[in-house]
Amino acid sequence: MQRFDLTGKVAIVTGGNGGIGFGMAQGLADAGASLLIVGRNAEKNAAAKARLAAAGGRVESFIADLAQEQPVRDTIADAVRRFGRLDILVNNAGINIRKAPQDYTLAEWQRVIDINLTGLFVACHAAYPVLRQAGGGKIINIGSMMSLFGTPFVAPYAASKGGVVQLTKALATAWAKDNIQVNAVLPGWIDTELTQRARAEVPKLNERVLDRTPAGRWGTGQDMAGIAVFLASAASDFITGTAIPVDGGFAAQG
Ligand SMILES: NC(=O)c1ccc[n+]([C@@H]2O[C@H](COP(=O)([O-])OP(=O)(O)OC[C@H]3O[C@@H](n4cnc5c(N)ncnc54)[C@H](OP(=O)(O)O)[C@@H]3O)[C@@H](O)[C@H]2O)c1
Repeated sequence: MQRFDLTGKVAIVTGGNGGIGFGMAQGLADAGASLLIVGRNAEKNAAAKARLAAAGGRVESFIADLAQEQPVRDTIADAVRRFGRLDILVNNAGINIRKAPQDYTLAEWQRVIDINLTGLFVACHAAYPVLRQAGGGKIINIGSMMSLFGTPFVAPYAASKGGVVQLTKALATAWAKDNIQVNAVLPGWIDTELTQRARAEVPKLNERVLDRTPAGRWGTGQDMAGIAVFLASAASDFITGTAIPVDGGFAAQG
């Protein structure tokens, strides 16, 4: 449908080489967007690029550690250099370090905040003049159920993901006048490398997720494709500053 058509649009998906980012990238590619996917691992980038290119659109990849300011700025500049424009920024790259709050070193705290929150802000900061000059654009920030809830083993992650939602609201109010919509997506429990590690580290996590999620299953990367297309397309032009759970009902469960 034309309302959801992304033909001619250019999207950056950070962490687009796997998991949730790959699912979102696939949705955007299927809807016609050209893509720059970003990650640290060259092999994962190459494999994802090959799979995404099968949708028929142009796909490029970029190697960057988004914990540092300059590589984030280089990412935005690389998209503009290669494609001549930028319309959609999906800030998805993220990490978690799980332990009791009192056991974190300051370096561990900082690493999580640097990637999940500061890197995301720098990407928005660097993309803003490009989107404004183009007459508008879409920013999609990935939060978490930990944007809403706490658990005992995710202090810096929860702080970063809560920050993502508040930052999203602040940017949405500031940039609405520029026709830039900024929204957050809050995934529930999605089966990815990140959560495969969590399953290994947190006793009975699988049972607890299945029990607590009304849909009765883990989500997949594919479950994230539709929301990416919606928030990247003209269908969501009057939606900004929201945080939308994609969670099989997890956040609605009392
Ligand atoms: N899975 C879930 O249940 C879940 C739930 C809520 C929220 N989330 C959020 O969703 C996002 C994606 O998670 P996921 O589950 O798909 O994780 P994942 O499978 O571990 O993928 C993480 C992605 O981010 C990239 N990445 C990580 N650190 C990076 C860095 N410093 N610089 C550049 N790229 C980096 C990775 O690529 P490289 O390895 O190549 O660097 C990879 O593509 C994260 O923000 C996560 O917090 C996940």
